[in-house]
Amino acid sequence: MSRKYLIAGNWKMNKTASEAEDLVGEINTSVGSQTTVQVCVCPAFTALAKTSELVEQTEVFLGSQNMNAESSGAYTGEISAEMLRDLYVSFVILGHSERRQYYGEISTAINLKVLAAVQNNLKPIYCIGETLEEREAGQTLAVVRQQVREGLANFPTNAIEHLVLAYEPVWAIGTGKTATDEMAQEVHADIRQVLAEMFGESASASVRILYGGSMKPDNAQSLLSQPDVDGGLIGGASLTSRAFCGIVEAARALS
Ligand code: 13P
Repeated sequence: MSRKYLIAGNWKMNKTASEAEDLVGEINTSVGSQTTVQVCVCPAFTALAKTSELVEQTEVFLGSQNMNAESSGAYTGEISAEMLRDLYVSFVILGHSERRQYYGEISTAINLKVLAAVQNNLKPIYCIGETLEEREAGQTLAVVRQQVREGLANFPTNAIEHLVLAYEPVWAIGTGKTATDEMAQEVHADIRQVLAEMFGESASASVRILYGGSMKPDNAQSLLSQPDVDGGLIGGASLTSRAFCGIVEAARALS
């Protein structure tokens, strides 16, 4: 089963719509017409509409950083799947550790978002990962397994090719500390095993599992060359085209 690399930039709370114009213009020029690697940018909500126009004629996909599980109604400050589809959003990051940590999101609630996303033809990028405390206590695999099982409960097997996971060890996010290639591979292989238990071997083999946490052009190639690492969810290095496109090039070189 060959899985196309996906390199997704999570801009977090950075870049206005006008700043997005510069960054996306450079990304388009550099990697916007190639299809060897799937490239996705995930701006803040306020820059989605502009970015959508900017990538319209390119091979770059648009992603959102969050959404609500409900389809409409009295949910002040929230955004629905339909609103994202209206802007031609393809991917949605769900359950990022910053949402878990600062906004109290838990896997069982994130599960409702994952299901709503796939029902609305959005591809969820479901994020999981352990804290430093959990790693040091030897709980990494148990924590990640539970996040996978809870977050993906009732996921329809016939839509499995639309599912993307992102393993992001919390201690590696924005810290400059990266999981070693072996650490990443160990957890990714274990996640794939859980997916096989939940959905069957062939479904599991079709799911892309991204690594996230201080991925940069200089460590991307060795992480991406691990057999179960199918791409990257990039934070800091997605804010400049040089670093982001450098990671895309690393994935292209391995494809
Ligand atoms: P950094 O690449 O800045 O470590 O962030 C990773 C991340 O959280 C992507 O979602």
